[in-house]
Amino acid sequence: MTDQRPLRFNAFVMNTTSHIHHGQWRRPDAHQTDFNDVQTWVDLAQLLEAAKFDAMFFADVTGLYGDADADYDVYVEEGLQIPSNDPSVLLSALAVSTRDIGLALTSNVMQNHPFNFARQVSTLDHISRGRVAWNVVTGMQDNGARNFGLDRLTDHDERYRWAEEYVEVAYKLWEGSWEEDALEQDREGRHADPRKIHKIHHRGQRYSVEGPHLPSPSPQRTPVLFQAGSSGAGRSFAARHAEAVFIIAPSRELAATQVRETRDQAEAAGRRREDITFYQGLSFVIGSSEAEAKAKAAQYDEYISIEGYAAHAALVDPDGRVYPPETPLRELRTNSARGFAEWLQRHITDREPVVADLVRQRAQSGRIVGTPEQIADELGLWRDAGVDGINVVNWVIPGSFAEFADHVMPELRRRGLAQSEYAPGPLRQKLFGSPRLSDRHPAAAWRGAFSGERSPLLAAAGGRG
Ligand SMILES: Cc1cc2nc3c(=O)[nH]c(=O)nc-3n(C[C@H](O)[C@H](O)[C@H](O)COP(=O)(O)O)c2cc1C
Repeated sequence: MTDQRPLRFNAFVMNTTSHIHHGQWRRPDAHQTDFNDVQTWVDLAQLLEAAKFDAMFFADVTGLYGDADADYDVYVEEGLQIPSNDPSVLLSALAVSTRDIGLALTSNVMQNHPFNFARQVSTLDHISRGRVAWNVVTGMQDNGARNFGLDRLTDHDERYRWAEEYVEVAYKLWEGSWEEDALEQDREGRHADPRKIHKIHHRGQRYSVEGPHLPSPSPQRTPVLFQAGSSGAGRSFAARHAEAVFIIAPSRELAATQVRETRDQAEAAGRRREDITFYQGLSFVIGSSEAEAKAKAAQYDEYISIEGYAAHAALVDPDGRVYPPETPLRELRTNSARGFAEWLQRHITDREPVVADLVRQRAQSGRIVGTPEQIADELGLWRDAGVDGINVVNWVIPGSFAEFADHVMPELRRRGLAQSEYAPGPLRQKLFGSPRLSDRHPAAAWRGAFSGERSPLLAAAGGRG
């Protein structure tokens, strides 16, 4: 394989106790229970920065998982993303405690008006000197929708149309409202040039925003755009807008297909294949020998909360109750995880497969167990499959990241699979070589769009706006 680029590494986290690997918070070495303590996150950000991770990526939700009318006992008892705190607030503390690491927050299109959101992100981009990324999500919880005045989650494809308008408003504010040299701060004269600060006069289906954007241009203007949808509408949104896409592919072959197809779509949308990077989510169990790693994996398995994973995966009955671990798979009446359930029914033939089998199989998928050398071998294969980076999913905080930093990163570096130093500048410059979005990105169409100097892209698009 000729591709010798180092992989990128993100730490996938959430400001909560139980994010992905449910039950692990009960381990004595689990400090994710201290998530309310800002020092937990400051220490982790500094650990990750010393290990040259590219970014810390915070997931977020706006409500409870599961049936919005059913009991939520399991979610609360397992600490499953409740309680959870707002990552955008936490990021400002991390921004002033670090220098290079990227800081990514998730925010869905329901939870914030785009005018206010764009302002918050510009402020964070100023505070962090250009290290903010936004994971654009459209929401996935009925309860989360009810917290914002809706009866239930808006239909799937309509959510992506909503997202299209949302990013359009934000792009107009970030890219089009302020010209580069509008801020003068001339003590003998004026503070800024009104002719270079523009109202955007957005009028769309959901939003009406006059502008101008209140912050002056931040180092990146538009934050680095992350996205994680895997449906047709999700991928098509990613192909047009995303700079980093998160995938959880069950195999390298399927990852290669998803990467290729999304890049094809990006090309069709006028972007270049390399304008989008792909991060596979994986977790790691590291040992100084294979036997030690396997023994550690068995310990993690002991802490798996069957109910926690089942609740997160929406393995619920028609009344919204989480299926008990001993429920035979043939009795499941749920659409989620049907493929997995059928696969297990074919593979477990000596007894009746139950929900606990399904959950264990899911909990153990996407994990690499081995020595640092074995893990580096595997990651080399993921790179060869066309993946640009890894989203490191943790079992415990900070231990999973500390072990990865201490034992796997040095081996990856020896092989040229991980960076040894940060490139200078804002996050987008570190990742793509330039602090601002390229002219090929749809956001660039709004540059100059409100000043009378129309951008060529906008003219080509028929002069929207
Ligand atoms: C790695 C990864 C992380 C995600 N993080 C979040 C999150 O923090 N908050 C959220 O609401 N959705 C999150 N999602 C869900 C997706 O953004 C998306 O809403 C979901 O996959 C459904 O979209 P789709 O139907 O296009 O696949 C995540 C998905 C993946 C694969």
